[in-house]
Amino acid sequence: MDGTFNENDISHVVDADKAHIWHHLSQHKPYETTDPRIIVEGRGMKVWDQKGKEHLDAVSGGVWTVNVGYGRESIANAVRDQLIKLNYFAGSAGSIPGALFAERLIEKMPGMSRVYYCNSGSEANEKAFKMVRQISHAKFGGKKYKILYRDRDYHGTTIGALSAGGQDERNAQYGPFAPGFVRVPHCLEYRAFEQDGAPVENYGLWAADQIEATILREGPETVGALCLEPVTAGGGVITPPDGYWERVQEICAKYEVLLHIDEVVCGIGRTGTWFGYQHYGVKPDMVTMAKGVASGYAAIACLVTTEDVFDKFKDKAEDPLNYFRDISTFGGCTAGPAAALENMRIIEDENLLDNTTRMGAYMFDKLSELADRHPVIGQVRGKGLFLGAELVSDRESRQPVPEKQAQAVVADCMAQGVIIGVTNRSLPGKNNTLCFSPALIAGTDDIDHIVSAVDGALGRVFA
Ligand SMILES: Cc1ncc(COP(=O)(O)O)c(C=O)c1O
Repeated sequence: MDGTFNENDISHVVDADKAHIWHHLSQHKPYETTDPRIIVEGRGMKVWDQKGKEHLDAVSGGVWTVNVGYGRESIANAVRDQLIKLNYFAGSAGSIPGALFAERLIEKMPGMSRVYYCNSGSEANEKAFKMVRQISHAKFGGKKYKILYRDRDYHGTTIGALSAGGQDERNAQYGPFAPGFVRVPHCLEYRAFEQDGAPVENYGLWAADQIEATILREGPETVGALCLEPVTAGGGVITPPDGYWERVQEICAKYEVLLHIDEVVCGIGRTGTWFGYQHYGVKPDMVTMAKGVASGYAAIACLVTTEDVFDKFKDKAEDPLNYFRDISTFGGCTAGPAAALENMRIIEDENLLDNTTRMGAYMFDKLSELADRHPVIGQVRGKGLFLGAELVSDRESRQPVPEKQAQAVVADCMAQGVIIGVTNRSLPGKNNTLCFSPALIAGTDDIDHIVSAVDGALGRVFA
C-alpha cells in the first residue's frame, strides 16, 4: 500500500461506513460488534484492506469483474483524458469512444452488428426483454411475447430480470414477478439424476429437448426469445453438456425464437475466447455483457444485436412507434467505452485470451488433483479462468454440503489472505459450489497459491 490512509483516517472511514453504508448482499447484524471489510487498494491480482492485510483475489473483485487486474494506469489515463474532453452526452447522440469501442467489439463478434450502451448487466438484459416485447407487438400482434429462461441461471437484480431468474432463493420474497417469463430445466449433467426422465447417455440433447418441449407446451406462436448464460455463473459454474448448444440453436431457428445470450460474466475473455458462446459455434440474435467489458474501471454494459434485429426497429419509419423508445441516462457516459477500449487493447497486447486458456487448464488440473485427496469435492467444472468445485458430503449420493460448511471454506481462505467465492443464497439447499475467477493475468504462482489455500481450508473444515 502507498500509505495514503493513516490509521486515524481509516478509523474514521470505518465509522462512516458502519454508520451509513448498506452493504450489498450482507446481513448487517454482525457489524454491530465487528468491522466490515473495506478494500483500500489493489495492484495486479492483489488487494489490501483497511488493516493493511494483503489478499490474493481469486474472484476478480468478488464478482468476476476485474479481468485485467487492479491498478492499470493506462485505463485510468484513458478515462481521465476522455472525461476532460467530454464526460457525457445523452446516447441519442454519438461519442468518439462509443463509436470506436463499438467498432472494435463488433470485430470480435462475427454476425453481430449493433451496440446499445447502458450501465449494468441487469439493465442490458432488461433492454433485450423490451426489444423482444416490442418485436412481438410490431410483428406478431403482441402474441410472441414470452421469454424462456433456465433453472439456475441469473440475469440480474431488477424485478424484470428476476422474473427471468432461475435461482429460487435469490428470488424469494421479491415477487410477484412480471408475467410472460417461462422456466426451462437446467443442463447440469452432474445433477441429471435429480431430473425426471434424464438419460445417462446423450444428456445434452435431452436437456436441450426440454426447451423444445416447453415451447410446444406454451405454443410456439407465443414464445419470442430464449435467454441463457453460455456457462451458468452464480448458479453453480455449469458448463453445457455435449450437443446442448447445437440443439438449442436448431430449436430456436425452428420456432423463430430469438436467442439472447447473457455474457455478463463470460464476456470479454473470461473463458479464453472473447465470448463464451464462441466455444460452441452458436449464432445469437442478442448478446448482453457488462462486468469485464471495462474490468470495473468504469460502469459500462452493452446489448449487441444482429442487423436483422436492428432492422425491425426502423423498417416502418413513418410509424411514430417504430423505433426502440428506450434510454439509459448513464449509457451516455463516455468513461465506459473509453475504459473498454483500453481494456480490450490490454487483453490483445498481453495475449490474455491465450493466458486464460493455458492458466484455466492448469487450474482445472490443480483443482482436480485436490479432488483426488479431498472426497468432499464432488466435481470440478468450468472453462478458462472460470471454475467451480461442487462440494458434496457423499460422492455416491451427491448430497450437497450445507451452505455453512461451504462458507466456512471461503472464510478459512479469507483468513489465509486468499479471496474465493461460493454460490451464495441462490439455490435452496444447493449453495455448495466454490467459485474461482482470478484475473486473466493470473500466473502459475497465483494459481498454486489459491489452490494451496483451498487445500488447507478443506482439510480444516472437513477434518
Ligand atoms: C449472468 C449474469 N447476468 C446478469 C447479471 C447482472 O449484472 P449487474 O449486477 O451488472 O446488474 C449478473 C450479475 O452477477 C450475472 O452474473
